[in-house]
Amino acid sequence: MVTPYGILNRMRRGRTLTRDEVWSVVAGAADGSWTDVQLGAFLMAAAMRGLDPDETRELTLAMLESGDRWALAAEFGPLVDKHSTGGVGDTVSLIVLPVLAACGVSAAKLTGRSLGHSGGTADKLESIPGVRLDLDRAGALDLLDRFGMAIGIATGGIAPADRRLYGLRDRTSTVSSIPLVVGSILSKKLALGASGIVFDVKTGNGGFFPDVEDTRSLASSLVSISAACGTPADCVLSDMNQPLGRWVGHAAEVREALDFLAGDGDPRLFEVVAAVCRKASRLVGAATAQKDIEAVIATGAARQKLIDWADAQGAEPGWTDALDLAPVEAVVTAAGSGFLEAVDCRRIGNAFADACRPDRNPNRIDHAVALRYDVRLGQKVERGQELARVYVRRDPERLRSEVAAAIVIGERIKAPPAVAE
Ligand code: URA
Ligand code: CA
Repeated sequence: MVTPYGILNRMRRGRTLTRDEVWSVVAGAADGSWTDVQLGAFLMAAAMRGLDPDETRELTLAMLESGDRWALAAEFGPLVDKHSTGGVGDTVSLIVLPVLAACGVSAAKLTGRSLGHSGGTADKLESIPGVRLDLDRAGALDLLDRFGMAIGIATGGIAPADRRLYGLRDRTSTVSSIPLVVGSILSKKLALGASGIVFDVKTGNGGFFPDVEDTRSLASSLVSISAACGTPADCVLSDMNQPLGRWVGHAAEVREALDFLAGDGDPRLFEVVAAVCRKASRLVGAATAQKDIEAVIATGAARQKLIDWADAQGAEPGWTDALDLAPVEAVVTAAGSGFLEAVDCRRIGNAFADACRPDRNPNRIDHAVALRYDVRLGQKVERGQELARVYVRRDPERLRSEVAAAIVIGERIKAPPAVAE
């Protein structure tokens, strides 16, 4: 009989866990029969010795089975899911789903809250007045039928074992273990049940892992374990050594997405959007080329998808004109002349995350706080030139000075490509 003590003892001695052992850990997390102490020991052992691909697959499948499975593709037909490991000024999800839907590739995703320095699509979408993101399986199928796209926050019980384990990882310094990250992300993705998943894995100092080897390892593990669990996947490695778009914010990023879909898009953002759309489409046997994306933007079809989706989720009439910026502005200017040599993207993300929660309540976000960030690595700048502009309610100096301190002007550098091969 497998007991917590027996499993932990085998892990301590470096043995590989059997399928039954991994499943009993996860069952214990879900039903409470494993204590926090025992689960904490499991997590630390997993973080220190790693989990092999079979153990990681079983961890993922067991966490998936701990909760509801929507199996959307089984009922609806081919559809793709899209996941980002979290970025700064990253509107890719807000753009990709409407573009794909307008190109005839159905797409659905359950989205998350902001985490640490990275923004969450759910928080951004909630800046749309009236929008409600609660989504259940029937609601997702209904949105897919009507618009070819669904985005929401899962109601009910998707991967409850992950919820408990994630909370314990946070308290035991085991959040950054790659197999634990993979199991956590994938168990929730697989619960939706898309035909294929495309991962946008962010590289660089604003990515989940600042280290490039860790990032590549995360990307390849997400793809291979997803496939091992029965869902084809692909990934894009996109640069997060600087904010991706021209804005960091909630309402501001929704507005940036609308502007992008109206044809006014940043070229680096376009590259990432195109790469994600291409790979997502391929997973369901479709082809979405740059010209297809340009076409659904030119006709307004993609922008209309986002508007139709928001209207269906309760957005108030006229919402596209109600994505306001906070009224107090302050400007970050170049302290000297030279080239934009480096940006601490994580520092900008953290400073923004603090600034948009003025009362430090993690659950209350001021959607109007924003940062306009319009310079790019490698660009020539002159002393006194505007580099960024903050929009807050009061005390702009805190955010302004953090952003200023994150920007290094110096030598000419070769700017990192938006999408790595
Ligand atoms: N997001 C998740 O859902 N889980 C992780 O472990 C990390 C990021
Ligand atoms: Ca709102």
